[in-house]
Amino acid sequence: MARGLFITLEGLDGSGKTTQLKRLAAWMQKRGSAPVITRQPGGTATGDRIRELLLDSRSAGLAPMAEMALMFADRAQAIAEVIEPALAGGKIVLCDRFTDSTEAYQGGGREIGSDTVLELHRLICGDLQPDLTLLLLPSLEISLSRARRRNDRDTARSGKDEGRFEQEQDEFHRRVWEKYREIAAREPDRVVTIEGDLNIDEVHEQIVEAVAMRLSEAHVV
Ligand code: TYD
Repeated sequence: MARGLFITLEGLDGSGKTTQLKRLAAWMQKRGSAPVITRQPGGTATGDRIRELLLDSRSAGLAPMAEMALMFADRAQAIAEVIEPALAGGKIVLCDRFTDSTEAYQGGGREIGSDTVLELHRLICGDLQPDLTLLLLPSLEISLSRARRRNDRDTARSGKDEGRFEQEQDEFHRRVWEKYREIAAREPDRVVTIEGDLNIDEVHEQIVEAVAMRLSEAHVV
């Protein structure tokens, strides 16, 4: 059986990834190819427990290397349990964040650097590469103001605490944004960047265009 297609969505917190992923999945379902949808961190029973640990503000003292190791532990489990079996079964996998997030947030945001992240990706993830990455990257200004709005919302929010990354300062988000740009420039064949101040429908159209092209190249449709 022909191998499936691995598509990832990337972007800063508040970039609208999750909304776009749902719309893309609906578009695919209409065309008769039901994708396997997953996210990182999380997406497996073990991964959900790792996610809680990672995103909870009570993990405030987590060392950057420990944070990165947990991201990769989560990813190794997701690859073994969800992603590889689906790709081997010829399915399309839509994944909300993958190793580009680790490169942007831990490599850039936490200043660990790209080399360490990419080396770990080779060792732990067998260097698995997405066939297509959709990077939602509005301007730095818009991204920062969204991050700030999320900070405020988190402060007021009760219940489930997933605010640890959103509570980071502007400088952190700026480094994440810049690292994403660097990744996109380094891998233009894999990464399609959707930039500018676009509304939900406009972003969806650009996503569909990029995906349709990759699907036809891969002879999936
Ligand atoms: P999530 O609630 O999924 O955020 P979003 O809806 O914005 O995707 O939280 C995931 C958070 O974890 C997000 O702030 C980015 C961060 N993260 C990393 O720092 N490194 C990683 O490798 C991954 C996968 C996520």
